[in-house]
Amino acid sequence: MKKILTSILSLGFAASAALAANSAVTAVKVDNVSDAAAWSKAKFSSVTLYPQTAIEMNDKKANEINENVKGKKAEVGALYDGTNIALMVKWADGTKDTQAGYTSTTYGDGFAIQFAGASKSAELPYIGMGSTGRPVVVHLQKANEKVYEPNGNKDVSTQINRQQTGVFGQELADYDAKVASLANKDYERTFVAEGFRSLTEVKDGSVKSNASMTYGSNGWSGTLIRPLKDAYVNLNGTVPVAIAVWDGTKLGRNGLKNLSSWIAVNLDGQKPNAALVNDLTVGSKGNAAKGKEAMAANGCAGCHQVEATDPKSVMAPSLKNVGGYSTVAYLRESILKPSAVIVPGYNRNAHSNTPWYNIEKGKRVSTMTDYSFLDKKSVDDIVAYLETLKAEVE
Ligand code: HEC
Repeated sequence: MKKILTSILSLGFAASAALAANSAVTAVKVDNVSDAAAWSKAKFSSVTLYPQTAIEMNDKKANEINENVKGKKAEVGALYDGTNIALMVKWADGTKDTQAGYTSTTYGDGFAIQFAGASKSAELPYIGMGSTGRPVVVHLQKANEKVYEPNGNKDVSTQINRQQTGVFGQELADYDAKVASLANKDYERTFVAEGFRSLTEVKDGSVKSNASMTYGSNGWSGTLIRPLKDAYVNLNGTVPVAIAVWDGTKLGRNGLKNLSSWIAVNLDGQKPNAALVNDLTVGSKGNAAKGKEAMAANGCAGCHQVEATDPKSVMAPSLKNVGGYSTVAYLRESILKPSAVIVPGYNRNAHSNTPWYNIEKGKRVSTMTDYSFLDKKSVDDIVAYLETLKAEVE
């Protein structure tokens, strides 16, 4: 009897793990992705974005609001033409939050699309801003009120407070209008990164992208158009992308966001990368119940939290949502080669005697135990269990 029960249990786990990965998105070939009418041809697929909980912010209020934050569904469609790829992301958000120019306590809604940069590695970059030797390109769009950036415009005559202009009445109104006309209404940024703290904004125009977001009927629709090929990427066949959304009402910014795992976008009519599609759409074949036991037997909980995300007591990233935004290949690599990717961390509130990595001969070496001694079956089982670690979806 016990035996049957265990296999029923593991069946249940296996089924949820199989549902874990997102299905591939098809990018439909059109004449011109910039033609708004082309979107009527797009096929939308559902993608799940999980709260990023590997590290916690130093913001008590934000942490409280986000304590039990849920996963979010987004609809993703894609198009491509001879030059560009376009992605559209639609997600529910009950309140439109627009960040005001000079306040630091309100935050705008936003979205980002990340592409894996050209690299020799067969493995995808770390989901949060890439990893050493595995670069990413991140396109970020935030809902912002007009921002006046005088330095960018090299115009200092309007760089003063309106109260100090020495004018009033019509002249002050004219001054305000001039400032408004010079202000930048769009908050769109492109970054390249090879890991946390290496984020570098691309300002030299070498990425010809255009992102925008519009609010309507209880949610946002965000669009990005970027070249299929430039100095940073060469997109063909199957394009891995990751999507993040921020919710200003929940004080979301920086790492405080919902994030997808890598998603496979197949350029319709081109030969897909079958191995990559398989990696990104098929869950682990292991037995999650056995994986949970194997984790207990191997002392993972000595360093990791599985259910909590308390920054003060952690010796390692919280694994609470790791199954939501990680690929099977990444989870496997984390166990077998801990130093291949070092998770950016760690929270400043953590004890300085428990760093996540040490520098040895100029290289970051993870403080995680190297578990390459585990047999293949145990690793598969642990990965299957890790895949089940993710928040409920709203
Ligand atoms: C001695 C402490 C320690 C033990 C024991 C440990 N880990 Fe880790 N683990 C870490 C640290 C520190 C990191 C972050 C640095 C890095 O990326 O290697 C990490 C990172 C990870 C990550 C990546 C998390 C992310 O957010 O991307 C996974 C997955 C993981 N560990 C799984 C495990 C599993 C499974 C076990 C048990 C088989 C385990 N760890 C045991 C310290 C530990």
